Amino acid sequence: MEPQTPQADPAPAHPPLDALAVQPLLNRDYESRPAAFYERLRAEYGPVAPVDVLGVPAWLVIGYAQTLDVMRDTRGIWSRRVENWRRYREGSVPADWPMLPVVESGNSAFRDGADSTRLRSAWSEGLRPFQDRTRPEAKALEQAVRRYADELITVLAESGPAGWADLSAQYARPLPLMVIGRLLGTGADGDDELIIDLWRVMDAGPEAREASDRLLARVADVCAARMAAPGADLPSYLLAAAPDLTAEELAREMSMMTGLVGDVTGTLICNTITEVLIGETGARASLSAGMIPEVINRAAAANPPMANLAFRWAKADVRLGRFQIAAGDPVMVSPAAAHLDPAFTASTAPDPIYSSRAHLAWSAGPHACLGRDLATAITTIAVERLFERLSSLRLALPADQLPWRSSPLIRGLRSLPVTYELAGDAPEPQPAAPADAEEAAEAAEQEAPDESGANLVRRVLRMVRLSS
Ligand code: HEM
Repeated sequence: MEPQTPQADPAPAHPPLDALAVQPLLNRDYESRPAAFYERLRAEYGPVAPVDVLGVPAWLVIGYAQTLDVMRDTRGIWSRRVENWRRYREGSVPADWPMLPVVESGNSAFRDGADSTRLRSAWSEGLRPFQDRTRPEAKALEQAVRRYADELITVLAESGPAGWADLSAQYARPLPLMVIGRLLGTGADGDDELIIDLWRVMDAGPEAREASDRLLARVADVCAARMAAPGADLPSYLLAAAPDLTAEELAREMSMMTGLVGDVTGTLICNTITEVLIGETGARASLSAGMIPEVINRAAAANPPMANLAFRWAKADVRLGRFQIAAGDPVMVSPAAAHLDPAFTASTAPDPIYSSRAHLAWSAGPHACLGRDLATAITTIAVERLFERLSSLRLALPADQLPWRSSPLIRGLRSLPVTYELAGDAPEPQPAAPADAEEAAEAAEQEAPDESGANLVRRVLRMVRLSS
């Protein structure tokens, strides 16, 4: 499959984006039957379609080759800096446009060149202790996730060994929330309001601006404390890797982290469980074959948690698909749509022995995800423990009636109603080898005071209910 390389084409044969973008991105099909929506766009416009994103026109890249091409950006055409948005410079983006807090966040996702490289190196180094599975911090984190998963399942099944549950509110969302406190070094007793605000920002609702400000202020307090007294936590490790990070920069990155762990990873957990239960894409067969990473790949391909990536801006006029993108136009690449491109679907087989890793759910190129191993480790444990401890798990709604969130960025469920039966002889989580366990426990103790057990689980469950 040949990526379509940008070509100079001085004479656009079509009206400008503002006159073309009449299709609203958010619509009933986008939420509940995205394949039908993208197919319609593809039939009408080809691999790039003009759309209206909450009142603002943008190009939506829906072809696989074009999406990969924009992500890789080998010709340096695409900027992540909002200052390159023509409308923004002209002051004609409405002040209350719900996605402004995201594109103005100034974190590493919205930097270019050396500015971006500096922050990305800090991230790679800072995440290493948690992503390198030979490190004590990573081992301690995995043990904690396993324990959180077991505690959540125990609480979920308190009403009886069989029953009804919402696996989004009672499992997939609270589990990674409990990880945020460990990464920030505050313990798992995170701030309840923080998570509610996080949801408000990710769903780009009317309260997004205030929520974003509050979220940043809370995370900034934690980062200031880490700058004064570094510990064995993510903000301190980022600082150690890039001592010139300012307090503001660190707070922005950690605020982004709360979204990536608390919301996006929770969404991947939920989408993975859903994919197994629906069983149409080979995820169930992969699970039966014990190939959880492949189950996650299948789920990420079918419903990438980041369905659309929050904007790039063209630095020069460039041809993409059938259109001439003008310098300063906003472009949204859509992993969700790219995965439905016949050019991609034809190359993936439902058979679980074939890998589907060519998906774009982690992006690619200079802004590719740096936390993939961490997100995969958390999701693997979550899925493994759930299917080990429950002997029967079924959707309580027909698959086509599942309630999807209405978000320009995230593809995830508002709830995942299931019926379950506990396995009678559920194996307890395996302890690590003695030396490792000691090391891990020691690391866990040093890093983060951990409020373990039913209290924490109940508190996190309460706040997840509040935020939905
Ligand atoms: C299932 C969970 C996750 C998914 C699907 C995911 C996916 C992505 C994607 C698609 C991007 C590119 C965004 C864009 O270009 O607009 C990205 C960027 C990034 N991700 Fe992840 N991510 C996940 C979890 C995490 C976690 C847990 C961390 C770290 C704690 C992380 C760290 C990052 C960073 C630092 C970037 C910015 C890189 C840059 O812009 O240079 N991600 N992620």
